[in-house]
Amino acid sequence: MQWNSPFNHHFTAMNTKSLVSISDIGREEIMELLATARKFEEKPNRRLLEGKVVATLFFEPSTRTRLSFETAVNRLGGRVIGFSDASNTSTSKGETLKDTIKMVSNYADLIVMRHHLEGAALYATEVTEVPVINAGDGAHQHPSQTMLDLYSIYKTQGRLENLTITLVGDLKYGRTVHSLIMAMRWFNPTFRFVACKELGMPEEYKAFCRDNGIRFTEHVDFSPEVINSSDIIYMTRVQRERFADIMEYERVKDLYNLNAAMLGEARENMRILHPLPRVNEIALDVDDNPHAYYFDQARNGLYAREALICRSLGIDVTD
Ligand code: CP
Repeated sequence: MQWNSPFNHHFTAMNTKSLVSISDIGREEIMELLATARKFEEKPNRRLLEGKVVATLFFEPSTRTRLSFETAVNRLGGRVIGFSDASNTSTSKGETLKDTIKMVSNYADLIVMRHHLEGAALYATEVTEVPVINAGDGAHQHPSQTMLDLYSIYKTQGRLENLTITLVGDLKYGRTVHSLIMAMRWFNPTFRFVACKELGMPEEYKAFCRDNGIRFTEHVDFSPEVINSSDIIYMTRVQRERFADIMEYERVKDLYNLNAAMLGEARENMRILHPLPRVNEIALDVDDNPHAYYFDQARNGLYAREALICRSLGIDVTD
């Protein structure tokens, strides 16, 4: 489902300080943001947001994204307003998204927003001058997640270039994998798409790969050959909330499960990422395996989001 906006087909921010799609930032800016995230990892607490108010508007549930954005604001000395449940807001009385955004713009210097409709964050940028960071819009994009994914890949692999990245699970609705593919266009990746036919990578993202010279192969089997030749395995949850037919969800929800026994021949430096939350797709016995990185990945979200907040507010971060 898409927000009814005439700008839907562009899907990039109208306001250069906003971040609607990962396409809003190019290679150079990605590298700058990763360097800034590194500074925040070295020193997360800095008083850079004195007097600034950041609104976190979560029309969809979240644990990591909302709490890491709010932690980032707190660690930078700013203040947070917002909501984690829109049913407690005037949305439940029929207030439109446009009016909500215009109201919040009276109070905040930056809006971080998650919404179930694709294009909702872009729509928000059209009705306010306040910068907007898309914290996930339906099955479309999750660009701040991508920045922490890139940071995690860079930290673990020592580079972003020439990596083999295997994406597993819900590639149809998975906004994190959609954003990641688009960001990796600059770094000559090879992708493996592992999914059942119901949850395969949408044609538009495969077309994006072809148009940008990105190699990819598609697999139904999560085979040892795929696992053992990957630098990154990026697991995803099958998202129950995106299915109109619950029976279809039941049929596909447990098709891909990674356990420790499957990792014996993996490349030494291979790391397992997952945007989380996980359900059954990574067994608990992987958590203590040296290839597991998903909890560290979530911690990296704090540093990446501190960097993104400063970008949107035009704040220079020195050493
Ligand atoms: N990765 C992610 O978006 O997690 P949350 O849904 O908990 O924010």
